[in-house]
Amino acid sequence: MSSVGIERISFYTSRYYLDLALLAEKRGIDPNKYLQGLGQEKMAVLPPNEDVVTLAATSAKQALDGIDTASIAMVLIATESGIDQSKALGIWVHHLLSLPKSCRVVELKQACYAGCASLQLALSFIHTHPDKKVLLIATDVAKYGLNTPGEPTQGCGACAMLLSSNATICSIEPEYGAYTSHVMDFWRPNYREEALVDGKYSTRIYLNALEECWNEYQLASKRTFNDHARYCYHIPFSRMAEKAHERLCKLSIGTNFPEAISDSLIYSRTLGNSYTASLFIGLASLLEQASGDLSEKRIGLFSYGSGCVAEFFSAKVSTGYQKYLKKELHEELLAKRCALNVSEYEAFYQFRLPQDGSEYQVNPHQCGAFCLTGIKNHERLYSKSTMP
Ligand code: COA
Repeated sequence: MSSVGIERISFYTSRYYLDLALLAEKRGIDPNKYLQGLGQEKMAVLPPNEDVVTLAATSAKQALDGIDTASIAMVLIATESGIDQSKALGIWVHHLLSLPKSCRVVELKQACYAGCASLQLALSFIHTHPDKKVLLIATDVAKYGLNTPGEPTQGCGACAMLLSSNATICSIEPEYGAYTSHVMDFWRPNYREEALVDGKYSTRIYLNALEECWNEYQLASKRTFNDHARYCYHIPFSRMAEKAHERLCKLSIGTNFPEAISDSLIYSRTLGNSYTASLFIGLASLLEQASGDLSEKRIGLFSYGSGCVAEFFSAKVSTGYQKYLKKELHEELLAKRCALNVSEYEAFYQFRLPQDGSEYQVNPHQCGAFCLTGIKNHERLYSKSTMP
């Protein structure tokens, strides 16, 4: 049987961004704190006519370009910024993309970890149903609060992956190390739009969870640090992933080659945190931006979700993977975004749909393949974008 893993991968983020040097100036902070201290240059800012559904649907449309969708048997959505307490946002995506009616559609939540959980569940399903495919979409909007320490680590994005037994991009290996612990480092009660976060505590818990997962993974796989050519970590901000890598090098008495993670951070530096999507956007960044051929190389991956659940696992890059990537599309998306000033960013940030569900029409802005047009009778309304 051919290997099980990622057949296609594509991400989408907002067409608007804020340069963090402008934010630093407005908040009276040395720009090097954001640039060097956090490792972030820009952050993606969502316009009022986009949300987790439009981000997810656009990324999935891109990933499925040229694919016969008839064999998609399941749509898994990972998010911590869901729009409904009951209905899975994947059903809107399923509708917008006219996916097969025989699909299962479900939404999974565990902070930034839900994408990894969805991946593992999908792979088990494909092992028992090798003729079927799973569409996994991680989609999130990271919102902390104006003028808070978390503000420069906001962002948004969705990453869609077609998973199957035809792993043209990379296969996912079965060994893993997982870790769960009840901690309150980051959470968002139902009555709040923004997360509550103890930022510094969360960075310590992240590193501790990495250590626990790495130990479990090593026991299960018998692999060492040098068995992995590259590493990809959950990226709340780039410096966090660099610190994680430094910790792993120290633990394993391995050599810290900056290029082992630098390519995975390129996209996130300019779009910011995308919670569940960030690890997979990091993987796309690594595969698309790596100098040299990664065919048959092993990548170590670490997923962390506050609260907390974390997992270390690995992928093996397929020979000829390059021709299945969407490198030009992603580079063009990031290069052609519109710059906002701080007032425009704050206006987008403060936008809220009517909280009583009353009728409202959203003004058009630049967007992806789909847009949120308004709300009526408590129902969000979407359409195909008419933007060029
Ligand atoms: N030039 C260069 N670096 C600077 C600087 C300057 N002028 N001023 C500060 N820094 C560095 C600090 O030394 C620090 O680096 P270090 O962590 O390597 O010591 C870094 O910038 C951050 O500054 P610091 O003051 O420690 O933190 P903060 O109070 O601004 O908050 C976070 C940083 C990450 C805690 C905050 O952005 C946050 O809460 N984010 C959301 C939660 C999150 O992302 N958690 C991650 C785990 S999921």
